Amino acid sequence: MTEPPVIQAINLVKIYQTGGVPVPAIRGVDLTVNPGEFVAIMGPSGSGKSTLIHLLGGLDTRTSGEIWLDGQRVDTLSESAWALLRRQKIGFVFQFFNLVANMTVADNVELPALLGGASPKVARERREYLLAELGLADRAGVSPAQLSGGEQQRVALARALANHPRLLLADEPTGNLDSRNTRDVLRLLSEVHRKGQTIVLVTHDARVAGMADRVVYLLDGQIVDDGPVAGVRRRIGGTAGDVVELRG
Ligand SMILES: Nc1ncnc2c1ncn2[C@@H]1O[C@H](COP(=O)(O)OP(=O)(O)O)[C@@H](O)[C@H]1O
Ligand SMILES: [Mg+2]
Repeated sequence: MTEPPVIQAINLVKIYQTGGVPVPAIRGVDLTVNPGEFVAIMGPSGSGKSTLIHLLGGLDTRTSGEIWLDGQRVDTLSESAWALLRRQKIGFVFQFFNLVANMTVADNVELPALLGGASPKVARERREYLLAELGLADRAGVSPAQLSGGEQQRVALARALANHPRLLLADEPTGNLDSRNTRDVLRLLSEVHRKGQTIVLVTHDARVAGMADRVVYLLDGQIVDDGPVAGVRRRIGGTAGDVVELRG
């Protein structure tokens, strides 16, 4: 039997109402991501990338269309049912870390696993593994405020992966990092992808997109291109300047 897609959007639409004015952010998106795939989402500012990631992770509600997670329809779930499923199946990394300031690094990383139902022992072992992989083993006991931006983002990635999520969603995870920290984040992403992690990630960075199996290009809330990295430039007429660099 073939596995269902990890995440699937069918004719997904999101229209924000701001002061009575409808703002269409996502306008009929169809997207299927299969187990083990790494999909990069690119597109200009305001094209709907963050909105799409939030909808796929149930952090925002769609206006119309369907979302399926792991073979289960989820867009019709109650907020609490979504929250439960999200804890079990989804890891998030945002541009601005979102670490809990008054918890140690270790607790930040263990929390999702504990919320997802892992035993304290399993949560601790997973945390030890991830922090070691990211070169942060010696930082486990400190508070996030004592870390550099790059270290905080690595902790955020460890936290997102703590629960062995079915799906890793990331919104510009290297957006605020210098090149050295970007390399560390990319190394772990590449490592977990190799081990089968399904990833959907928003990025402006050609190096990040270059690691993906597919690049989905958004423009004005619609997918205008979806395919392997190398073909993006040709297919969208050379406007994806940052993707072009990949070939140099
Ligand atoms: N919470 C919101 N309320 C109203 N409009 C929003 C909201 N979030 C995003 N938008 C609008 O939706 C469009 C897409 O935004 P966004 O998904 O943040 O794009 P991107 O991440 O590609 O920069 C933009 O026009 C933006 O102004
Ligand atoms: Mg955004």
